[in-house]
Amino acid sequence: MIPSELFELTISSLAASNYVPIIVSVVLAVLFSKALGIRVKGQKAGSIPGRLGLPFLGETFSFLSATNSTKGCYEFVRLRRSWHGRWFKTRIFGKVHVFAPSTEAAKAIFTNEFVHFNKGYVKSMADAVGKKSLLCVAHDSHRRIRRLLSEPFSMNSLSKFVTKFDQMLSKRMRKFEEDGKSFVVLDFAMKISFDAICDMLMSITDESLLRQIEKDCTDVSNAMLSFPVMIPGTRYFKGIKARNRLMERFREMIASRRSGNEAQRGDFLDSMLERDELPNEEKLSDSEIMDNLLTLIIAGQTTTAAAMMWSIKFLDENREAQEKLREEQLLISRRKPESSLFTLEDTNSMSYGLKVVKETLRMSNVLMWYPRVALTDFTIEGYEIKKGWHVNADATCIHYDPALYKDPLQFNPSRFEEMQKPYSFIPFGSGPRTCLGMNMAKVTMLVFLHRLTSGYRWTVDDLDPSLEKKSHIPRLRSGCPITLKAI
Ligand code: HEM
Repeated sequence: MIPSELFELTISSLAASNYVPIIVSVVLAVLFSKALGIRVKGQKAGSIPGRLGLPFLGETFSFLSATNSTKGCYEFVRLRRSWHGRWFKTRIFGKVHVFAPSTEAAKAIFTNEFVHFNKGYVKSMADAVGKKSLLCVAHDSHRRIRRLLSEPFSMNSLSKFVTKFDQMLSKRMRKFEEDGKSFVVLDFAMKISFDAICDMLMSITDESLLRQIEKDCTDVSNAMLSFPVMIPGTRYFKGIKARNRLMERFREMIASRRSGNEAQRGDFLDSMLERDELPNEEKLSDSEIMDNLLTLIIAGQTTTAAAMMWSIKFLDENREAQEKLREEQLLISRRKPESSLFTLEDTNSMSYGLKVVKETLRMSNVLMWYPRVALTDFTIEGYEIKKGWHVNADATCIHYDPALYKDPLQFNPSRFEEMQKPYSFIPFGSGPRTCLGMNMAKVTMLVFLHRLTSGYRWTVDDLDPSLEKKSHIPRLRSGCPITLKAI
């Protein structure tokens, strides 16, 4: 889904503006605070240990430096947890952040969504993705918009998506295999997940149009957590311009479909427009449709692509799991007429495949934590959270907790044969904001794993484990280049 709200000011937005004097004073102040060692350890019962440092600055620079390293920004969290314990607090960009590490905390946060916790309002995000986006609207609108958006993402509605995605994927994989050249899985996955989402939402298949829209969506995504000033050259400026172009395109598309000159396509947009004659409560306004088209594309592309990349990496390192998965997929292929497409029903035969998907999501933590703001004072596990603090439900900590997952660093899909403890497996979040595209993401990964393992073996051409710098989603810096070989 969407990057962490910790990135409210990005390094690039600082660089893009004339903030040199501020940066210099900030550096001096950080050094000063380090020298003083301003630390607020949990002196009194209920207070959360951690280091807040100077007002505003806190540990902003340590956070940015972790983000800018090849260990990834979760290293910032990992280090502090080793210093302060499982619960800790810190200050970043002037806001106190608490990292909440447990299933109990996740439960408390998710079950009190909109009551004691909510997503923080970020101006640049609302400007870029739109005020009517699911990510920005208030509680009542959220419930209504989400209800009206949901149907096309239910498992039953995804059968057309599955076959279309399989067709697209088989063709592209075959081409890579025939070329015999190494290709970067992340680039491949970013492109195919974007194309598949745009096809499902709006039946867009024209290559040059897709690339123009993709470029604009990337600019919007980069602007979401940037410094909101309209200065040419900044991320924010580019993002707002890109948003305007996208809204214009979506508006034209909606008008053209309403004109009645186009055949029904049976896609997501058609299903929204079919509600035109219904009362207001039962339909979305045009701006609600357009803002959420943009939201869905941005929320779906990078997350799904990263998960696809990690599945290849993990299976490459765990040949036993790879062979077990291949066996299951070959059984499915042998049962079907030659060159027939994969169907939604086939996913039901992928019991081990589904475990591979889950284990990939557990280990990759595509979204590392889920940020919320406390709307009231609130206590979890005896720890006192103050109104206004940012509380991050730390999915990575939960997914790597040895008390919940034996040998958590080991990729072991079979561990999902056992029932999971509530809130111990939360790659898609939970509660009213659970990922809307969860089913779509799962079937996309299942089709991908099926085609990959039933048709090919692969070699990873760069084994460097370094992570991409400045990324809010953990991704390999190399993008995981591979070469395919047909079985
Ligand atoms: C492996 C892929 C994916 C992962 C790991 C993922 C993860 C998540 C998570 C954790 C959340 C909740 C965040 C929070 O509580 O703060 C979320 C929300 C969301 N996701 Fe996904 N997602 C994925 C794919 C998709 C896809 C394919 C789509 C749609 C095409 C999508 C659309 C959304 C939307 C619209 C929300 C916001 C829901 C709301 O606020 O009501 N996601 N996603």
